[in-house]
Amino acid sequence: MKRERIHSAGPSITQLEIDTVTDAATTGFYSNYRDYIEKFETEFAEYVGVKYAIATTSATTAMHLMVLAAGLGPGDEVIVPDLSWIATASVHVFSGATPVFVDIEPDTWTMSPASLEAAITPKTKAVMPVDLYGHAVDYDAIVPICRKHGLMIISDSAPAVGTLLNGKSTATYADMAAYSFQGAKMMISGEGGMFVTNNEELFRKADQLAEDGRKPGTFWIEKIGYHYRMSNLTASLGYAQLQRVEELVAMKRQLFDWYHDRLGDIPGIFMFKEKPNCRANCSYPSIVLEGDFKVDRDGLRDEMRNRNIDTRPIFPYMSQFPMFETQDNPVARRIAETGINLPTAAYIDEQDVDDICDVVKDILGV
Ligand SMILES: Cc1ncc(COP(=O)(O)O)c(C=O)c1O
Repeated sequence: MKRERIHSAGPSITQLEIDTVTDAATTGFYSNYRDYIEKFETEFAEYVGVKYAIATTSATTAMHLMVLAAGLGPGDEVIVPDLSWIATASVHVFSGATPVFVDIEPDTWTMSPASLEAAITPKTKAVMPVDLYGHAVDYDAIVPICRKHGLMIISDSAPAVGTLLNGKSTATYADMAAYSFQGAKMMISGEGGMFVTNNEELFRKADQLAEDGRKPGTFWIEKIGYHYRMSNLTASLGYAQLQRVEELVAMKRQLFDWYHDRLGDIPGIFMFKEKPNCRANCSYPSIVLEGDFKVDRDGLRDEMRNRNIDTRPIFPYMSQFPMFETQDNPVARRIAETGINLPTAAYIDEQDVDDICDVVKDILGV
């Protein structure tokens, strides 16, 4: 292995990012203290194809704003896929609503439309699908179900900057959606997120709640709010990355193809491929061990770590956590217990992928 250690994730930072952040640190105060925030929000909204965007401290806080703007609270149920990062469930608990966990599709790991429909009760008020690991949710099936039952769609698109369904950003299928720019994502701002919507009323509510509930442009507090707005310095890094976003998507898609060419056809190893109407951003190339190998998933990860290759397990399915009632979602459980995210750090080149895949095959005994 020519590198000391292969990291599981990490961004692509060029002179553009360094110059832009330097500019923000040099000039981005006094009357310019919001310049990068405004440019980032405006251009990100254009990129996604929505009218409104609010840059936030994280996707979690953007998702909390969605829940608050939707008016969800005690007695309300929100349907979420069982396989995701905990924010997909915790933002509902913050407001007293109840997350209801449903199963995922075996080929895309996104919410199963059939499981969603089966879980709807009179208490269901909203649905939070997740473009997990950058594959588009099946909105062609999910939107009609939600419209039929009068349910709001508030999407967790945290890992899905650049993901398209039928040529449109997945966020455009939702009433509100959130993206993440946390440091392990494809496009980063360190920590950070973006709330997006086409609905002016929801935007105004979320915008006020993101800034302490103040009357816009004043120090008068009209309601108790939160302190969720991104800083100008953080926005400058996100803004610089946005100028390169299509290059970043292309890099991840290339990396995925290299992995797929080497591992995708091995019996017992499953890698998801994007559906024909979807452009996945491929930000987390992953494998699931379906066959009988020399080691199991955790054994593979341990031995890869011994050989200086970091990986991540697929997220644990959420309903098993102690604060929830465990649900029987067999696909989510199987993927969570047998899958790993392969290294996706931006510096990884084809030679690294060759080396990583040789190590995987050696440890598995194939
Ligand atoms: C599916 C999903 N939802 C939400 C989040 C939370 O994003 P953030 O760390 O920006 O709050 C993540 C981050 O990993 C995620 O993967």
